[in-house]
Amino acid sequence: MTPDTAFDLVRARAETPGCKNVLHFNNAGASLMPACVLEAVKGYLDLEAAVGGHAAHAREEDKVERVYAAAALLLNADANEIAVVENATRAWDMAFYALARTFKPGDRILTGEMEFGSNYLAFLHMAKNAGVTVEAVRGDDTGAISIEALEDSLDERVRLIAVTHVPSTGGLVNPAAAIGRVARSNGIPYLLDACQSVGQMPVDVEEIGCDFLSATSRKFLRGPRGMGFLYVRADWIEKMDPPFIDQHAAAWTAVDTFEVRADARRFESFETSFAGKAGFGVAIDYALDWGLENIQHRIRGLAAKLRDGLGDIPEVRVHDQGIEQCGIVTFTKDGVASDFIKGVLARRDINVSVSPVEYARLDMERRALPPMVRASLHYYNDEEEIQRFLDAVGDIS
Ligand SMILES: Cc1ncc(COP(=O)(O)O)c(C=O)c1O
Repeated sequence: MTPDTAFDLVRARAETPGCKNVLHFNNAGASLMPACVLEAVKGYLDLEAAVGGHAAHAREEDKVERVYAAAALLLNADANEIAVVENATRAWDMAFYALARTFKPGDRILTGEMEFGSNYLAFLHMAKNAGVTVEAVRGDDTGAISIEALEDSLDERVRLIAVTHVPSTGGLVNPAAAIGRVARSNGIPYLLDACQSVGQMPVDVEEIGCDFLSATSRKFLRGPRGMGFLYVRADWIEKMDPPFIDQHAAAWTAVDTFEVRADARRFESFETSFAGKAGFGVAIDYALDWGLENIQHRIRGLAAKLRDGLGDIPEVRVHDQGIEQCGIVTFTKDGVASDFIKGVLARRDINVSVSPVEYARLDMERRALPPMVRASLHYYNDEEEIQRFLDAVGDIS
């Protein structure tokens, strides 16, 4: 499919109520929800208030269930391979800690230098508790994970390749499919953190070849907060012993026996936000309706304009690396703290976030980066907003 050049910006903005209030360049933090998602969540909560939570579920089960088929469609997976959990971190943890049950001292985990902080903490946790080692494969000249270095790092002790597709702290896109080919041909499990890529570009688990993938609702998918999902490749599900189970994840079959369910929902718990699930399903369908190629094309174009404009402002340094780039734009301004910039922009109703060193300590320490301003764009942002943003950043001293 070729990207739709006539992007319907008027519709995108009209369907995003928050556009009236703020210039929102914090989509990597949490996007503005479209009206249809908001209505789905509110409508479901209204029903719960009117008839009770369990009766609401009985009446609207199809709306709650839709999220599985929608996520499967989004990823080119099967609905049985999807678990819906409270966020991307918990999704990732479920896969990692299930795999970690089999780790032995001396086993090696390979990751990237821009691995997300929470994931790296889990690696350190397992290094402490199971004696595994964690090694960050060096980046290539563009900052992306080097496939050559990855191949050079392999031996029979490598038990997991776990990388972040789009780092939280920069605009590059890691070569997820090339990494997948290395993992596949060497029979190594592959866990992909797709928290910042899902919703802003096509992500196809068959093309990528990952065995596990985690993502969140509130970022580029524009869903409600407090939701995320885990994809587990079908042939892995029954080999994965969940870190904990409840009566949704497993059946208590006799006084001293139980059976863990056969689908990926073994990683879920019984209680969750049903309104959130209903809204999450609508958000994924909404993204599919726009088309992920169209979304990616639009976001890339906007982000390139923003990078160009920032590059023209004296004292501003853009820190994004990578040949393939996305909607995350990171920068600093000489002599001005990034938190100060964020505060000044907030007073002008402009939302950005600040990426501190702890989000990706290996990379940020190596490049001696201070906390950076992160401006992350979505397809409903426009050129006029980019100009306003550049003017505002230019004014700050
Ligand atoms: C790359 C990456 N992975 C994981 C997460 C964690 O996502 P969540 O807050 O949904 O757990 C984030 C959040 O910023 C992220 O940027």
